[in-house]
Amino acid sequence: MNNQVLQVAGIDKFFSTGLIRKIRTQALKGISFSLNKGKCLAVVGESGSGKSTLGRIILGMEKPSAGNIFFKGKNIFNSRNSKSCRKAIQMIPQDATASLNPTMKVRELLLEPFMITKQLNGNSNKLLEESLEIGKLTSDLLSRFPHELSGGQRQRIAIARTLCLKPSLIIADEPAASLDRSIQAHVLTILKDKVEKESKLLILITHDLRSVRLMAHQIAVMYYGCIVEYGSAEKILNHPCHPYTIALISSVPGLRPRSERIRLKGEPPSPINPPTGCTLHPRCPVAVKSCEKNTQTLQKIENDHWVRCSLSN
Ligand SMILES: Nc1ncnc2c1ncn2[C@@H]1O[C@H](COP(=O)(O)OP(=O)(O)OP(=O)(O)O)[C@@H](O)[C@H]1O
Ligand SMILES: [Mg+2]
Repeated sequence: MNNQVLQVAGIDKFFSTGLIRKIRTQALKGISFSLNKGKCLAVVGESGSGKSTLGRIILGMEKPSAGNIFFKGKNIFNSRNSKSCRKAIQMIPQDATASLNPTMKVRELLLEPFMITKQLNGNSNKLLEESLEIGKLTSDLLSRFPHELSGGQRQRIAIARTLCLKPSLIIADEPAASLDRSIQAHVLTILKDKVEKESKLLILITHDLRSVRLMAHQIAVMYYGCIVEYGSAEKILNHPCHPYTIALISSVPGLRPRSERIRLKGEPPSPINPPTGCTLHPRCPVAVKSCEKNTQTLQKIENDHWVRCSLSN
């Protein structure tokens, strides 16, 4: 585990919200994993489980409340390392529209990353050409403002702005969610090539388990701020063990042949009122009395496979 390029160790994140009375909620609890060159980790889980928060923390945009992240052996939160890590780790944001300055034209938006990293020296046409190619964009868009583009075009500009800097670690937060099928496939192919041909590291945050099957070597399944199942993609997709993962996978028709659909009861718990014991127990189809009391830890059940449920060991 120690020779891995990215090591995420015991990340906790608390937020304080509320105008009058401050309420402290925990968005991430003890997140640990590692990732090596040429590998894709898919982070999956329902809305609010903490996926984007984790991505922003790895990017260095947000500080964790506890824990550390090492990239190529350097602690990314150490100010001495932050500049080199910031260049090497880039994120395709979940909300592309918000990431684009509405007063800038596409040409300026595509050149901005090079300007910030001081790579512009009379080569702007060549760089623009490369960025247009990455995003599968046409040059007639260069003179338009973001509001004059479709959602899919804006997303492709955000993708091109991230990938043009040739980061070693790409964090892609729902990179293809707003795109139509053919552009979706194109985006996933670009990312797959970055991993397989250029040995980049990719953290793919997504709700789309079909793209996980296509892309991921490892999977982290998140529920309510915790990783509930972690390991090789092959093991988790073909032999899911945590009741939450089983329900998630069974909700996608045809993903796992001959599996019947398992539904979770009720709604996800409120962040301000966490359940006792195992956080899934109020919704879990196999919960027993002790799950109300016993918190669970991530246990290794076989090589490359960890599960946070004592009933599945
Ligand atoms: N800046 C913030 N201040 C307060 N709470 C926050 C903040 N950012 C995120 N949260 C809370 O942290 C939890 C995790 O949010 P996050 O955006 O990471 O979820 P997610 O898994 O990415 O969800 P989605 O699939 O909907 O994108 C949520 O309960 C959210 O409300
Ligand atoms: Mg998100």
